[in-house]
Amino acid sequence: MKSIILYGSRYGSARRYAHQLSKQTGIPAFSYREAPPLSELNTVVYIGALYAGGVLGLTKTLRGRSFGKGQRLIIVTVGLADPEIVQNRITIRDSLQKQIPAELYDSAVIFHLRGAIDYQALSLGHRTVMTLLHRFLKTKSAQEWSEEDRALMATYGKHADFVDFTSLQPIIDEVLRDTEQIN
Ligand SMILES: Cc1cc2nc3c(=O)[nH]c(=O)nc-3n(C[C@H](O)[C@H](O)[C@H](O)COP(=O)(O)O)c2cc1C
Repeated sequence: MKSIILYGSRYGSARRYAHQLSKQTGIPAFSYREAPPLSELNTVVYIGALYAGGVLGLTKTLRGRSFGKGQRLIIVTVGLADPEIVQNRITIRDSLQKQIPAELYDSAVIFHLRGAIDYQALSLGHRTVMTLLHRFLKTKSAQEWSEEDRALMATYGKHADFVDFTSLQPIIDEVLRDTEQIN
């Protein structure tokens, strides 16, 4: 196995993207919890959900790992904030840069996808965090909200699903770009 898709997903949207990418590329997908040794792989695609800016499972997966010559790391974040908005991409990349070593960040190809949220399905802990954030944001004027805050306010309490498999296309192109030569 020369290429792998790993995912970090709590409620399923990153997993849905990972399985669809697997279907369209023929590359197997696994939860990061079942990741095989990465040193034997040429291409690692990591698809992780964003929680408070962090990519679920990414730090654990990459800890102590280095990517040598000929190895590729593709990181895909999945969050509620719309990645078409430049400010959201900047915010995500700023926290990603803090999460992984500089040499990995610099060598990685990074993409952003939009996920889903269903308040009925959230854990008590997550629902509490969102309730507190919502309450805090309500004390501010809407002009003071960041783009991420706006996404939270617009979807608060609802079931919102922005998963769009067509947005995988640039990732499929990148994954397949060199895969044939490498494999
Ligand atoms: C507690 C909590 C924190 C979150 N933090 C962020 C965030 O920082 N940025 C973002 O874009 N989305 C954030 N989200 C939304 C999730 O990233 C989004 O629902 C994602 O699709 C979840 O992926 P999963 O279904 O694979 O777990 C957060 C959601 C929860 C419940």
